[in-house]
Amino acid sequence: MRTVDIIEKKRDGGELSAEEIRFLIEGYCRGDIPDYQMAAWAMAVFFRGMTARETADLTLAMANSGDRVDLSPIPGIKVDKHSTGGVGDTTTLVLAPLVAAAGVPVAKMSGRGLGHTGGTIDKLESFAGFRTELSIGQFIEQIGQHGVAIMSQTADITPADKKLYSLRDVTATVNSIPLIASSVMSKKIASGADAIVLDVKAGRGAFMKTTEEAVALAKALVDIGEKVGRETVAVITGMDEPLGFAVGNALEVREAIDTLRGRGPWDLEELCLTLGAHMVMLGGKAAAIGEAREKLRQLLDSGLALKKLKELVAAQGGNPQAIDRPELLPQARRIVPVAADRDGYVTAIDAQEIGLAAMRLGAGRATRDAKIDLSVGVVLRCKVGDAVHAGESIADLYVNDIPRERLAEIQHSVKNAFAIGPTAPARKKLIHAVVSKEGVRDWQEPHI
Ligand code: URA
Ligand code: CA
Repeated sequence: MRTVDIIEKKRDGGELSAEEIRFLIEGYCRGDIPDYQMAAWAMAVFFRGMTARETADLTLAMANSGDRVDLSPIPGIKVDKHSTGGVGDTTTLVLAPLVAAAGVPVAKMSGRGLGHTGGTIDKLESFAGFRTELSIGQFIEQIGQHGVAIMSQTADITPADKKLYSLRDVTATVNSIPLIASSVMSKKIASGADAIVLDVKAGRGAFMKTTEEAVALAKALVDIGEKVGRETVAVITGMDEPLGFAVGNALEVREAIDTLRGRGPWDLEELCLTLGAHMVMLGGKAAAIGEAREKLRQLLDSGLALKKLKELVAAQGGNPQAIDRPELLPQARRIVPVAADRDGYVTAIDAQEIGLAAMRLGAGRATRDAKIDLSVGVVLRCKVGDAVHAGESIADLYVNDIPRERLAEIQHSVKNAFAIGPTAPARKKLIHAVVSKEGVRDWQEPHI
């Protein structure tokens, strides 16, 4: 087999065999196939696409490129959850204890934040002492004992994806449905889940700008799940503004705690109940989606979900007292308001700009090894649709030491992230559709 022939076949619109795909991925991982050939192949895929069968074969080849976690010692259906990337997306911190409290074992491997999106592992380190570097043995033991564990993704999961993703990032080949779908699913399969719930974001702050594109990606993801025997459900959700109010590590932890008390922002709670209900269904702990949702509601109202978070934090060496006493979480020294410059209604909040602002305050990393400040970030004071008045604060910046000019720039970009118009915008749906092996369903948000 020759790499150049495989590239040519894809360039001309041909369908690659499983052997050809494995040859490419294995050769690339070993270093036998150079970046320039892989880049040419990725560009051919970008233009020609892949069949569902090719996409599933690519996923498996990548899943098999490194360690595969065996969660079979844990009884029950292990359900994993993944989001294609949002700003202020605190759902994992809420969902992991919530779904575990419903009796579904949660074995979560998460990453750190990079660029304008945050990572669950960084957020959890807001609890002093919280350990995220668990061995697979400790991970499995903790899930056996407490029903939930969150560990940082080991270096040996899907090395092929790591290498290919960095190459795609600099060769304008990220935005290809088969390449995104195989990248996401290879990691979920290697980390051992039996069933997978995906939050596929659509909107300005997401890879997929429209609902239609997001549905196409969701179908590719669900198809892979079907072909490799892991039941997969994808929920299409809007990312036209940050989720909830808080963006920044400890700030988001507080928001997650509020949500687990049943006092969270409307959109974050709604998303958690919807994703969580699908996880509970796939985990076999409810017969219908309404029943699953009701069960989760009760776990929020009764305090059992919050209790599970305390158990999780304590099990991993963090200080659970910070849950009842949030002043024990990292605190920024100053709060600097950003004021509206006119009267009107908020018509859009650019999630990416807000995420970048939080990063520039120190909440995120520009490079993989940069150090972050857990206490800083942005807290919105209003959401799309709210009326605001000139001079009123629309967002608060939580800051530590920062040069005055830099702070002024960030204030300016946060102000510009808010579009303010004379009339209230039509309300946009948060949950657009649900894609499963049964097909695409429109989603009725329950209390609208
Ligand atoms: N997220 C991933 O994990 N992979 C992609 O290719 C895009 C988003
Ligand atoms: Ca948030």
